Amino acid sequence: MAPVTSLTASVHQRLADALTAALPEAGVADPLLRRSDRADFQANGILALAKKLKGNPRELAAQVVSGITAPELIKDIEVSGPGFLNITVADEAITRNLAARAADGDRLGVPLNPDAGTTVIDYAQPNVAKEMHVGHLRSAVIGDALRHMLDFTGEKTIGRHHIGDWGTQFGMLIQYLIENPGELAPADEVDGEQAMSNLNRIYKASRAVFDADEQFKERARKRVVALQSGDKETLDLWQRFVDESKVYFYSVFEKLDMEVRDEEIVGESAYNGMMAETARLLEESGVAVRSEGALVVFFDDIKGKDDQPVPLIVQKADGGFGYAASDLSAIRDRVVGLHATTLLYVVDVRQSLHFKMVFEAARRMGWLNDDVTAHNMGYGTVLGADGKPFKTREGETVRLQDLLDEAVQRAAEVVREKARDLTEEEIQERAFQVGIGAVKYADLSTSASRDYKFDLDQMVSLNGDTSVYLQYAYARIQSILRKAGDSARPTAHPELELAPAERALGLHLDGFGALVADATAEYAPHKLAAYLYQLASLYTAFYAECPVLKADTPAQVENRLFLCAITASTLHKGMELLGIRTPERL
Ligand code: ARG
Repeated sequence: MAPVTSLTASVHQRLADALTAALPEAGVADPLLRRSDRADFQANGILALAKKLKGNPRELAAQVVSGITAPELIKDIEVSGPGFLNITVADEAITRNLAARAADGDRLGVPLNPDAGTTVIDYAQPNVAKEMHVGHLRSAVIGDALRHMLDFTGEKTIGRHHIGDWGTQFGMLIQYLIENPGELAPADEVDGEQAMSNLNRIYKASRAVFDADEQFKERARKRVVALQSGDKETLDLWQRFVDESKVYFYSVFEKLDMEVRDEEIVGESAYNGMMAETARLLEESGVAVRSEGALVVFFDDIKGKDDQPVPLIVQKADGGFGYAASDLSAIRDRVVGLHATTLLYVVDVRQSLHFKMVFEAARRMGWLNDDVTAHNMGYGTVLGADGKPFKTREGETVRLQDLLDEAVQRAAEVVREKARDLTEEEIQERAFQVGIGAVKYADLSTSASRDYKFDLDQMVSLNGDTSVYLQYAYARIQSILRKAGDSARPTAHPELELAPAERALGLHLDGFGALVADATAEYAPHKLAAYLYQLASLYTAFYAECPVLKADTPAQVENRLFLCAITASTLHKGMELLGIRTPERL
């Protein structure tokens, strides 16, 4: 079977292949062909090759020019500077290639990764009995986008929502519930909002008793022991807290327009049964050692204050296991049980030291190796308008649901302003897609490792690098296609000469496949966002300069409609990969 790439290889790729074939070291040397301001493309690779062959670069470049055999691709090729090649491609090649891509279904030139494996992606991991805040937004949004991108390029992905569902705080909560049995309404009788308000109330009330009443504190401590030893009544009550929390989580994920599967919610507690063995394996191999009664792993390069080594604590002196032990057990499970080839974590950058230590320990154990690698996409902080970590006016952390509700509300104002003849239901539906899209896009369009300011005014603005701008570009194209109706169909006409704005748009579309492949390999959704923004901008320029339905000839109308249609499918697919909707009308 021919590789998928050959069907839809871009003009860029085909040109690079033709150059490679014309080089003296055919097949080995890289022509380093890139988009350029001087011409459509520039090839810089001849300089390095000439150096290697001890030849004159300009002469070598001239030799390549006369040796190249791809007349259908090239309109103009010239040697410039010390030995660059400036290349202008043929209009016909651009249109033909886009037409082939359009005929090839919904891949839009995106190649399947020939080395695809299985990625277990750890993202969207809130904590039981706790409110989700703006920090949990990033993990969910970035993780979801990466997952779509990986899936689309052929990777098998398995989600793991490593929720915080274990720890000593459950002793207090469960003991309180035993003493106040009516306080938690059954999970199947509440909605997300009620579930969280129940949990909040119980959390606060139990905390108050815990702090004020020494005897309760003691009973709560005993309850922790009962929980850890698997006491049935205690576990049942713990499960009720988990179930109640899940009702709440699902309601937030739904607000985020994100699919979360129950079988992929595998929290810290799921690894309880593995912890003792994980510790034993670490100790027996000598990777972990006993230090003051605790079982720890040391690292040469990880030192704290006073140059003292900071160890990773696998087991505390009292025998208890914590966060590190569950993460190490999770690695074993994901590698051995799920056959992962890549472990991807989307977790706050503030946990990067934890993961550095966990990964290194796993490497020493051989659980991670050349074939199974782990990577933490440590993401930055969401800041308020003042540039400080995002807080309410009262200085509290911002509830994620409030934030999402407000985004949808703002979006409703924008939608209402734009289209006055809509029913309230239509407004709400579009506002949901616009508002949630705006929040996601703002997050995804900055590189994950950087902090960004949460600024709703900017996010729902119609101008600038926002999802609304992209959604409008898409909706505008759909409206043109509707208007054309049956009178003119989008049809490629490779024989037509292209206007500058058409060429620019066409060449950018040509690069979609390589861009998606690179952005996915680099776990960089912001590169896809930047591509889409540029696509919408080039479309806007094209639309301003090239009349579509009123073009000079019927063939030109059809060809421009074709450019519109393929721009629309590319915008749609790109946004879908980011987890953002593109409404048909706005
Ligand atoms: N629940 C944790 C938190 O809210 C994040 C879990 C990250 N994943 C992991 N495997 N440790 O901080």
